[in-house]
Amino acid sequence: MKKKHLIANWKMHKTVQEAAAFIAALLPKLEAIDKRQLAIAIAPSFVHLSAIAGLIDGDASIQLVAQNCHHEREGAFTGEVSAAMLSSIGVAGVLIGHSERRIYQKEGDSLLAKKIKRVLETGMQPFLCCGESVAARRDGSHKEAVQQQLTESLSGLTPKEIASLGIAYEPVWAIGTGQVASIEVITEMHTFIREILSNQYGGINIPILYGGSCNPQNAKAIFSCPNVAGGLIGGASLEVDSFMKLVGALLEQKDDTIY
Ligand code: PGA
Repeated sequence: MKKKHLIANWKMHKTVQEAAAFIAALLPKLEAIDKRQLAIAIAPSFVHLSAIAGLIDGDASIQLVAQNCHHEREGAFTGEVSAAMLSSIGVAGVLIGHSERRIYQKEGDSLLAKKIKRVLETGMQPFLCCGESVAARRDGSHKEAVQQQLTESLSGLTPKEIASLGIAYEPVWAIGTGQVASIEVITEMHTFIREILSNQYGGINIPILYGGSCNPQNAKAIFSCPNVAGGLIGGASLEVDSFMKLVGALLEQKDDTIY
């Protein structure tokens, strides 16, 4: 079944108390929604994951996604968190290669390929983030940049492994800037990513989410673009009301644009 995804990427926001208040307010609002075609996930700080897992307590309406994990199985890596640790507390997915980690932690595509393998090993879903810099968009090498990210981060994966992935297209210049990509850019890039996936891995239909200044005002237009299976949302996911408006916009999306 085609599924739409909405992932709240909370980045380094909220205390545990604020996170708990958000979840307590969100859960009742999700009760009336038909979740069969909608996967709603929260990606909070590592610190909040266990507390939120306790609050959700098996409620299938929200999944937990981590913002990162280490590429090694275990070992002497002070301050790091392994995929097995995340899986053991009920985390269902992990964001891999968010541009803020590519920029500030200098994470490169070959490291991300190892992280994806590790996440798949534990049965969780990796969400690989890709997207061009402002410089690449200006000099016209945006497609090349995204193709390189995908090819290198997915190298060594079997088509079966690729089939368990999600992709998020997040142009760096649109993240947290209020400068959302145009409908033409989103359509062009999502179609391009879909082509890369089908040329290299055959008829694999995995979700491609859009991220970058998506908000309640522009979500409906974004979610109606072809090959957009939902959103990875930063700023607009921090308040329950705004997040619920995004859920509403995704519910209105027609099935035939998801893949
Ligand atoms: P934004 O962030 O919605 O605040 O632009 C999106 C993201 O970084 O995932």
